[in-house]
Amino acid sequence: MSGNSTTQSEPWTIQRLLQWTTDYFKKCGSSSPRLDAEVLLADACGYQRIDLYAKFNEEPTEEVKSKFRELVRRRAANEPVAYLVGKKEFYSLSFFVSPACLIPRGETEHVVIEALDRIKQNPSKQEFQIADVCTGSGCIAVAVAKHAPNSRIIAIDLSAEALELASRNVELHAVQDRVHLQQGDLIESIDDQSLDMVLSNPPYVSDAEFESLDRNVRDHEPKMALVAGATGREIIDRLIEQSAAKLKDGGWLICELSPMIADAIHATLEADKRWTRVSLVRDLAGKKRLAVAQLAPRSPDHV
Ligand SMILES: C[S@@+](CC[C@H](N)C(=O)[O-])C[C@H]1O[C@@H](n2cnc3c(N)ncnc32)[C@H](O)[C@@H]1O
Repeated sequence: MSGNSTTQSEPWTIQRLLQWTTDYFKKCGSSSPRLDAEVLLADACGYQRIDLYAKFNEEPTEEVKSKFRELVRRRAANEPVAYLVGKKEFYSLSFFVSPACLIPRGETEHVVIEALDRIKQNPSKQEFQIADVCTGSGCIAVAVAKHAPNSRIIAIDLSAEALELASRNVELHAVQDRVHLQQGDLIESIDDQSLDMVLSNPPYVSDAEFESLDRNVRDHEPKMALVAGATGREIIDRLIEQSAAKLKDGGWLICELSPMIADAIHATLEADKRWTRVSLVRDLAGKKRLAVAQLAPRSPDHV
């Protein structure tokens, strides 16, 4: 992008900037070089990504080019694109993101899909009391609230910084009347037998797996959003135990996990007679991605 003797006279149009940057990101090892270049250039120009195609021959101002150069430099040093532009799309909604929260992933949309399916199967139910545990940016809570007007959601996180961001997203999508944010350790502070659903994308990476994560993730996303402990199952095991107390009879636990621990979590739920209709849901890549289970009716002496 600095130009050389053969190309110096050619203007740095949007098309040329995109081509150069795509090639550069390819060499840097990005798995989505063209997309990264488009998102960053659109951000520097103040355009929607789609606008770039109508403006291929436009040459951005020096100020825009300088802003773009800085974004390209940071991306080449592995900073995630979503943090560089401060936003990420999830379930077709835009969310503010920052290094205080995990960047919402496409796989996590399955949590929303499974929750909305169950809500829609019960159209006559006036209100669903839901907890989004480990809410981070608030993406699960907001997406469910947007699509299910009869949902009331407590969105919980241990991190005050993540909750600040979630609060911006709750306001952005105008769901503050039904999404209540709370700082806490999982759902320990929630009343027993008060929830219709527990939704969660908790930390589920093991200490050993963390070391082998892509540098984009390991060096930039919050470790407390990723790592659960030695096995990766520590937080989910606690959440299963707490959910068995906090869910109403027939309530659902819908929890994201990694394929590495899916069978172990499935076995735990299957062996526990408090749970029924236990299943694993696969993501679009065919990987085991969610554990879903329904709380069986409590025996009379347990109520
Ligand atoms: C994997 S991120 C999920 C964020 C968001 N729900 C998503 O899907 O993008 C996990 C989140 O759990 C939070 N967290 C970690 N341990 C927790 C705990 N014991 N109780 C509540 N939140 C916790 C982290 O701060 C982080 O925001």
